[in-house]
Amino acid sequence: MRLQMKPNGFMVQPILGSVRRVGIPARNLWCTVTHSLILETATLHWPDEAACSQAARALAAAAPREAVIALEGDLGAGKTTFTRHLLHALGVQGRVKSPTYAILESYDVGWAVSHFDFYRFDDPQEWEDAGFRDVFAQPGLKICEWPQRVQGLIPTPDLALQLRIGADEARHVQAQAHSTTGLQLLKALKSG
Ligand SMILES: Nc1ncnc2c1ncn2[C@@H]1O[C@H](COP(=O)(O)OP(=O)(O)O)[C@@H](O)[C@H]1O
Ligand SMILES: [Mg+2]
Repeated sequence: MRLQMKPNGFMVQPILGSVRRVGIPARNLWCTVTHSLILETATLHWPDEAACSQAARALAAAAPREAVIALEGDLGAGKTTFTRHLLHALGVQGRVKSPTYAILESYDVGWAVSHFDFYRFDDPQEWEDAGFRDVFAQPGLKICEWPQRVQGLIPTPDLALQLRIGADEARHVQAQAHSTTGLQLLKALKSG
């Protein structure tokens, strides 16, 4: 979902196929033009990995079958750890490998789950060659570490989490919902 500029200087916001005018002059909204619409934000605090795991289990309880979740944050922030807890809570048995080298690890939890790490992705041709375009065209849950490396290729995430390392084991998480699915997932995440 993107805001569009109208000649009268107002922004319009496409909502579920219709178009609603946002009554704020465009000059006050210029910084949002290139960004996706944010429906809700929340700040979460995970004092330790157990809290990260609890949040992941709460998210899993919402049974995210059809969603794109983006995970941003420095190396070691906890993107893979959060995904591991999420996948285990969804029923994945055994080791969850980090997709750092393979870029994609796939799972079946009753529905398809694709765990991407785009840290090493640097060739847009690979998007086609490796079949990533097809993965995003198929139903299922897509979890994307380093989404900023594939900006313009992946769709707007339903839910985006920015993980920041705090003192000791603490992680500060800025969450953004970009869709109604994202709102549901954020609600579940916050209940953790
Ligand atoms: N609160 C926390 N949430 C998530 N991971 C944590 C937390 N505290 C410590 N960790 C540790 O931080 C590391 C995160 O590594 P990883 O998940 O691979 O990071 P990333 O995928 O973001 O590069 C793991 O060793 C994990 O055990
Ligand atoms: Mg990782």
